[in-house]
Formats: sequence, C-alpha cells, structure tokens
Amino acid sequence: MAKPPQPIRHFLDLDRLDQPTLRHMLDAAAACKRGQVPGGDPRPLAGKSLALIFEKPSTRTRVSFELAIKQLGGEAVVLERDSMQLGRGETVADTARVLSRYVDCIMVRTTKEEKLLELAENATVPVINGLTDRTHPCQLMADVMTFEEHRGPIAGKRIAWIGDGNNMATSWTHAAVRFGFELAIACPRALMPPCEVLGWAANEGGKVTVTDRPDEAVRGADGVVTDVWVSMGNGDAVGRHVLLAPFQVTEPLMAKARPDAVFLHCLPAHRGEEVTAEVIDGPRSVVWDEAENRLHAQKGILLWCFGKV
Ligand code: CP
Ligand code: NVA
Repeated sequence: MAKPPQPIRHFLDLDRLDQPTLRHMLDAAAACKRGQVPGGDPRPLAGKSLALIFEKPSTRTRVSFELAIKQLGGEAVVLERDSMQLGRGETVADTARVLSRYVDCIMVRTTKEEKLLELAENATVPVINGLTDRTHPCQLMADVMTFEEHRGPIAGKRIAWIGDGNNMATSWTHAAVRFGFELAIACPRALMPPCEVLGWAANEGGKVTVTDRPDEAVRGADGVVTDVWVSMGNGDAVGRHVLLAPFQVTEPLMAKARPDAVFLHCLPAHRGEEVTAEVIDGPRSVVWDEAENRLHAQKGILLWCFGKV
C-alpha cells in the first residue's frame, strides 16, 4: 500500500511546533557547527534550491540562509519585493504557486503575518518565516542555541526581556513556553506584546510575566535581552523614544541580574538607545556568537524542512 503523503514541513512559528521537533533542529544546528552534518553526507541538500523573498531589509537573515543552503550543497535565489511582480500587485498566492514549481523551499521576510500564512497555504514546498511584524522564530533558534552554549540548558532559567513588546518579544514568549524557561518582560504599558500571545502562554502553563519595571524583570535573570526601539515598519519614532527611554539596558541594570548573566540582542543595534555601548561591547555580551549562530541555526531549520532530521 502506498504511504500517505507527509505533511509539508513549514517553519512558521515556534508555537506551531512541539519541543522535540525544535530540539531536533537545535541538535542538528550544533552538529553542523561542529562540522558533523547529521546523516554523514556533508552536502545533504545537493540539487535543492531555496527562494529568499525580502519585503524588508536584512543583513544576517539573508547572508546566513544563502550560505547555509550553499554549504549544505544546495543553492539560493534572492528575491527583493521591488524587483518582483509581487511589488506590482501579483498576489501572494500566485507567487507561492509559481515559486513552488521552481524551488524546493521558500523563506519569506514580510510585513503582515497573513501574507506568510497565505504563502504557506498556497505553496507546495516548505515555507520558512524569516520575520514578520508579529514574530521572528529563526532568530530565537539562534538565541536559544547561543544562551545554551554559554549558560547550559535554558529550561528552568530566567530571561528578562527589556523594551518594546515587538515581534522578538512575541517569539521569546513562544520560546519560553516551548523550551520551559521563565520570561520576565519589562515594557511600557502601551507597547506590551499582544494580549492573545500572553493569553496563549498562560494557557500553555508558561511562566511569562509582564511589568513596567526593568529592575524587577532583571532580578535573578540569567540572560537579559533587548531589541531596537523602532522596528522595521514602525511609525511614530519620536513617541517610541519617549516611552522606551526608561528601558535602556545599562551597566547598572545589568548589575541587578545574576553575576553570570549574558546579554543578547538580535541586531542591528542602536548604541545609546536600547543598550549602552558599555553593555553590548562589554564582557557579558554574546551578540557576535548570536549573530554567527544564525548560520548554524538556519542549517538545522533547513535540514528539518527538507526531512533530513
Ligand atoms: N537579526 C536579524 O534578523 O538581522 P537582519 O535584519 O540583518 O536579517
Ligand atoms: N524588531 C526588529 C528585529 C530586526 C531583526 C524589526 O522587526 O525591525
């Protein structure tokens, strides 16, 4: 009897995947970093192709995905919105149908989550979320990997998120539930992560708290994380700077975390805004390892999407 078709392995968000699956990807990423590609074949994606669609700028996501697939034996095609018919009104659904006839996987960085979901609904190949206004799950894979390299298993640890309740804050919330750590979010009341995200975490039994006191959030923290005050596509930069000024990560704030706490930031960073130069360029910062780990984490994600792990 013929085997039933396997569901397409989309990597859309951490809340849509279970912990063992995410762990498989992280284990594969760590193995790739050690130069031991799972399965023994160093080029398991030979003959495979990946389309990278960007509706917003990128340095890390673009370079790490392009090199990750190439180093695993495959190839990448980079597509920027304004040079595609997507930028002239071709639908997301039609773009998904057409690209699925050429490539074996599609990564997209876009604005609204609905566009990511429409792409996934209409593609016949795996779709990877390379950031939306709502989430940034690929980044979290690198972040968890980096934290664990420096501080051991993240389960049971305490992470403080300081600043805007943005796409990264939502993905950290998903990660807290999936990987079993405590997340203390300190943000202005006007910039809290969406209620449905916090409600989801509570329903799942996650330990996620929200305060407007950064010093409370960092108390006992094993890791302190922040992100830009003005994300791609955000308006009202002036209003955000006013609201977020008390949420800058400084040395005195880091001093309230555990002495061995690490500092994480997905980058790009704005020194003197969300973090001081002293912190991001200081001894507790692991941001360069975090940026490097994007490359290894992408390999774990790709190997899973292609059914290799
Ligand atoms: N952290 C991150 O996603 O960086 P890029 O915007 O440069 O891809
Ligand atoms: N929150 C930031 C993350 C950039 C990687 C943004 O969306 O611009």
